[in-house]
Amino acid sequence: MLMLGIETSCDDTAAAVVEDGCRVRASVATNQDAFHAKYGGIVPEIAGRQHVQLITATVEHALETAGITLEELDGIAVTRGPGLIGSLVVGVASGKALAYAASKPLYAVNHLHGHLYAAFLEQDVPPQLPMLGLIVSGGHTQLVDVRDHGDLRIIGRTLDDAAGEAFDKTARLLGLGFPGGPAMDRLAQRGDAAAIDFPRSMVGAESLDFSFSGLKTSARYFLESPAGKRANPADVAASFQAAVVDILVAKTAQAQRRLGHRTVVVAGGVAANSRLRAEMAAWAQSAGVRLLIPPLRFCTDNAAMIAAAAYYERRSAFPTSLSAARAVSPLKLGADPNLPF
Ligand code: KG4
Ligand code: ZN
Repeated sequence: MLMLGIETSCDDTAAAVVEDGCRVRASVATNQDAFHAKYGGIVPEIAGRQHVQLITATVEHALETAGITLEELDGIAVTRGPGLIGSLVVGVASGKALAYAASKPLYAVNHLHGHLYAAFLEQDVPPQLPMLGLIVSGGHTQLVDVRDHGDLRIIGRTLDDAAGEAFDKTARLLGLGFPGGPAMDRLAQRGDAAAIDFPRSMVGAESLDFSFSGLKTSARYFLESPAGKRANPADVAASFQAAVVDILVAKTAQAQRRLGHRTVVVAGGVAANSRLRAEMAAWAQSAGVRLLIPPLRFCTDNAAMIAAAAYYERRSAFPTSLSAARAVSPLKLGADPNLPF
C-alpha cells in the first residue's frame, strides 16, 4: 500500500511516500529556519506563506524520488493538527485537492500520533502494541498509552512548558539562537552536567504530569546571578540538559511500571537529544523493555511519520475526500478543535 504523506503543521514543508506503513520510498522537507531565525522564533504568517510557495514542488519532489505517479498511490495522508492554523490549512487544502483530482482517499492524521508512528518506519519487526509513548517536541510533552491503533490515551502531560520549549527558551538566554535544542545539545557535550544542581520538578510525585517552567526560571535566575555570569556556558547547557533528561526518563519509567507495557517509543524533536537517547537506552536495558527511538531525520517533523500513522490508523481513522467529507457527521468534525476543515 503506497501512501503519500503531507506535513505542514509548523515551519517544515514536508512530503513523503511510504510503503506499507514502514518502507520510506521518499521523504523530503524544506526547512524554513533561515526565514524565521532573525525573529528568534517561528512567525506563523511567514510559515503559512512559505508553505504556499513550497508545497507543490515538495510533493512533486517526493513522488519523483519514489518513482511513482499520483495515480499509483493508494491514499493521501495529511496532518490535520495540532499546529499553526495558517500552516495546517495549506497542507490540508493541498491534500484535499490531490485526493479529489486523483480520486484517492484522504486520511486526516493527528500530528502527535504521527510522531509516535515514526518508530514504525524502517523497522523489520514493527513495535508491538500495547506500547508506551513519550512525545517530546517544541509544543508538546506527553506520555501516551497506545492500546491499539487509533486507541491512544494521554496519561501524562506538561502542566506548563514543553520540553523543547524549555530547551529553546534557555538556549536563547545562552545566546544560542533558534531553534536552541540542537545547539544546546552540541554545547552540552563540552560541559559538566553536575556543575549546577538545577531542580527536577515533579519527580517523585505520583502524577505522570511534567513541569518545566520552574527549571526554566531557575536557569534564568542562575544566569542573572554573579555565579551565573562567571559560569562556563557549556556547564550551564550540560546541567540544564541533564535536569530535563532526568525528568523525562523518571516519568517514563514511572509510567512503564504502572502500565507494564514492554515496548516504549520516544519521539518528537527532543528525541534527537543525545543525552536523552543515551539515558533512555540505559534505563530500557535495566528495565528489560524494547525501546524505539526513531533515527534523527524522523524525530523532527517529517511527512513519512504522517503516512505511517495513516496506514496503521486507517481502519479507525475516517478516510475523507471531498465527497466523503460531506458524509462525516458535523458533530464529529465539530468535536475536534484542531480539525481545520
Ligand atoms: O517535533 P519538532 O520537530 O517540532 C514540533 O512539533 O515542535 O520539535 C522541535 C523541538 C524544538 O524545540 C527543538 O529545539 C527540539 O525539538 N530539538 C532538540 C534537539 N533537536 C531538536 N532539543 C534538544 N536536543 C536536540 N538535539
Ligand atoms: Zn512535531
